[in-house]
Amino acid sequence: MAGKTTVISQALLSEQFAYCDRIAAYWQERGTVPTAYVETYGCQQNEADSEKIRGLLAQSGYRITDEAEGADVVVMNTCAIREHAEQRVFGNLGALVHTKRRHPGQKIFLCGCMAGEQIVSERIRKSYHHVDGVFSTHHLWQFPEILYRTLSTGKRVFYVEDEAGSIAEGLPQVRDNILKAWVSIMYGCNNFCTYCIVPYVRGRERSRKSGDILAECRTLIENGCKEITLLGQNVNSYGKDLDDGMDFADLLAAIAQIPGEFLIRFMTSHPRDASQKLFDTMAAHDKIAKQLHLPFQSGSSRVLKAMNRHYDREKYLAAVNYAKSVMPELVLTSDVIVGFPGETEEEFMETLSLIEQVRYDALFTFIFSPRHGTPAASMEDPTPKEEKNRRFDLLCATQNRISEEIHRGYVGKTFRCLVDGKDGEMLTARTEGGRLVRFAGEDSLIGTYRNITITGSNTWSLTGNLK
Ligand code: SAH
Ligand code: SF4
Ligand code: F3S
Repeated sequence: MAGKTTVISQALLSEQFAYCDRIAAYWQERGTVPTAYVETYGCQQNEADSEKIRGLLAQSGYRITDEAEGADVVVMNTCAIREHAEQRVFGNLGALVHTKRRHPGQKIFLCGCMAGEQIVSERIRKSYHHVDGVFSTHHLWQFPEILYRTLSTGKRVFYVEDEAGSIAEGLPQVRDNILKAWVSIMYGCNNFCTYCIVPYVRGRERSRKSGDILAECRTLIENGCKEITLLGQNVNSYGKDLDDGMDFADLLAAIAQIPGEFLIRFMTSHPRDASQKLFDTMAAHDKIAKQLHLPFQSGSSRVLKAMNRHYDREKYLAAVNYAKSVMPELVLTSDVIVGFPGETEEEFMETLSLIEQVRYDALFTFIFSPRHGTPAASMEDPTPKEEKNRRFDLLCATQNRISEEIHRGYVGKTFRCLVDGKDGEMLTARTEGGRLVRFAGEDSLIGTYRNITITGSNTWSLTGNLK
């Protein structure tokens, strides 16, 4: 259904790398090492994009810092998913007036999903004069050119034209964490769920070539990576725009063949195309984590139809039941929206009954937020805010009880966990299902897989002892 995936040519990328060289020369002439700060909002897709923005900055001679104060470049990589997320960005962006006043040479950029909304770029143009540049996700690969233009002309630059989107391979990356890496396997979304802004700001679905993905995974693992999370808005439709005959399950199986000790996770999986083949593939490979984030959004088939999700309650439950039947140890998490326009009390109760039936380890719960330009934003929405809040609180309380019960069931069991960091005096680790465990141990354990026996639990996490 989608058009052919467009890949940015090597020649165009070389032009951008030449801009990196020019920026580096600009700073060398001034005898300083410039600094840059990148702030990331939103989902893992944005985290992965920020690693590329940092990569391009590092290639242009910037040292990456962890605060905006005094930085020569500040990049706000933003999220548009809910109004609250946008308000936070506008608040923090406003506050940058002061950092810029103290450091007038500072260049401030806004990018990411908000930059793909015309009303946002217009608002920045009119009311946020201290912002030097705005670029949507489609233009990320042109950041060196954008930065160079602001440095050399002192003018504001807007790269916000709407596009179907393309793929840029070979951009440098400064990864936050080599132990646990994000790998984008596709970009954009074709689903147009009626509440969601993502397809408008990230363009059409496009898949990276499997060879490029495999090469990236191989390099990561050779460099000590122990956990790879494959990213896409709807990973199950991976490959539909390519003609190499590889679907998402095939891709997972191919990555699982790479030698080394590591786990593969992925998100997000859309229930519409979650196939038995996918679950069978997960079950067949030890290196694929038995963890599934499968957003259901609503327990009511009527609401799901109004959301344009292309599955109903029965189809969703059938997929979950099949997955559990082939992977009895499967850890399930999900996203849910409360207060979609017109959701009745009975329909909300169907959401509650679905979470009781499935029993997720954890749930990401959201109150519907109307997004400009999406169909749901103009649907009739008679339910008062207080009523939505009440439903939301009831949903959270129910889920918290379920999470607590499931976590209590872990006590006494032993899990192989990746030790991934520290939290105060304790080490932190993740079970194969992605649950957080705190335990006492030597720092030298970080980066290794260990067996940990669970000794305590609460709603959110577990505690344990090394076995
Ligand atoms: N591609 C993923 C979701 C990405 S957005 C999927 O389809 O599952 C992450 C979550 O944000 C969504 O699953 C949804 O629960 C929530 N969300 C998206 N738009 C929203 C809106 N307008 N209001 C409230 N929650 C929303
Ligand atoms: Fe948004 Fe739906 Fe696409 Fe997920 S699948 S990003 S919820 S439009
Ligand atoms: Fe937000 Fe964009 Fe992700 S809107 S949730 S950062 S895809």
